[in-house]
Amino acid sequence: MSNPPPAGKLYSYYRDSGISPTFGSLQTEADLDRFCEQRARIFTLKLQMPPEMFRDARLLEFGPDTGENALAFARWGARIELVEPNTAVWPQLQAYFRHFGLENQLLGLHDKPIQEFAPAEQADIVVAEGFIHTVKPEKQWIDVVRQAVRPNGYLILFYYERRGLLMEVFHAALYREFRRMAGQKGPDAARRLYGAKWDAIAHVRRFNSWVMDVLENPYTHSQFTLDAPRLIQMMAESDFELHQSWPRYRDDLRMQWHKAPESPSSIAAEVDSHLQRSALSHALGRTLYCIGDNASVAAVGRQVDELLHAVDQALDVGGRQAWTSVAKGFVGLQSSIDRDNTIYAPSAEARRSAKAMLDSASRCATLAADGDAERLATFANADQSFVSFWGQPAHYSVFRKRARTDL
Ligand SMILES: C[S@@+](CC[C@H](N)C(=O)[O-])C[C@H]1O[C@@H](n2cnc3c(N)ncnc32)[C@H](O)[C@@H]1O
Repeated sequence: MSNPPPAGKLYSYYRDSGISPTFGSLQTEADLDRFCEQRARIFTLKLQMPPEMFRDARLLEFGPDTGENALAFARWGARIELVEPNTAVWPQLQAYFRHFGLENQLLGLHDKPIQEFAPAEQADIVVAEGFIHTVKPEKQWIDVVRQAVRPNGYLILFYYERRGLLMEVFHAALYREFRRMAGQKGPDAARRLYGAKWDAIAHVRRFNSWVMDVLENPYTHSQFTLDAPRLIQMMAESDFELHQSWPRYRDDLRMQWHKAPESPSSIAAEVDSHLQRSALSHALGRTLYCIGDNASVAAVGRQVDELLHAVDQALDVGGRQAWTSVAKGFVGLQSSIDRDNTIYAPSAEARRSAKAMLDSASRCATLAADGDAERLATFANADQSFVSFWGQPAHYSVFRKRARTDL
């Protein structure tokens, strides 16, 4: 990375650029009801943490931004302490709690970043969504949450996953190359390139906020991600066992006697094998599970990693050579998807559409290598496969802190 931003200081980027990345402008009780319902669906169906688990819980949330998620936790009955180092968002956050009559559930608000925070009391549930991947080395925040969560309590993380970030970095790199080629900056350049893509889905957030939070954000880089297999391993070594994740990290197809003991290390090994087989699914945000032998699993993983490296290069330095490697990398993944004894896809149509999306990505990369801004913008707005793919960069993991009496 040419000029990497300092680790753990994403909040300075938000403060200095004056953005509240997740501000949802909730006004009425009905707005908050809708928001809470959407969160309840995620927490119940995806993470196996229904709102009832939050009733009377002591909850500590790091990085709440303007506090929409915290309002939902408070509505579910949690008593909350918040840690938000970007104090510019505090007035909105506090106004929200007053406006919705939830201020009695707000126990405290602190201005330290997570890596400097010393928890005074242990919480039943600790939450860190949307920034934890930028705090390095990971030990800094793991030590804090290990202290902050009570035994048998839960830790909820939402983060950019390393391989999952592929398409997000690709979008950022393409935008930055387009900016250089077209001699134009910011939301206007982004609209020219991604107007049709953005308009194709119903967003809650504003376009400019996406531009600043993803495309312009110096922390959009695979250096600032969490590698899922490594995360599970590190957490297992720090007394945290995986409760649930989205996408699924446990191999839900495994067959074993329900009473068979599972140790933290056997779970970590099973998760690692499942995650290696999920490399392509995570990179492209589609179900493309590797069913080949160990050698082909490793080969597909390498292909994804090499492409990710090429996209990082395109982001950092750009230019013909970097973009030619990116184009080749996408073509390479296409031929892996073609082999149905290596990659499972849910249907022939799913396989076809994944290949079409890789073809579009490779064509964009070739136009970027040619330095042709006009043709790139025309293609990016007209090609339906390009318009409709986004990938799935962000993952959830929920951990339970083991009690001393656990096996
Ligand atoms: C992308 S926003 C996510 C907001 C909210 N948690 C959500 O997921 O909707 C990230 C938030 O984390 C905060 N943040 C960034 N670095 C942090 C750090 N080292 N410690 C605590 N909070 C941090 C930012 O100021 C910002 O409010």
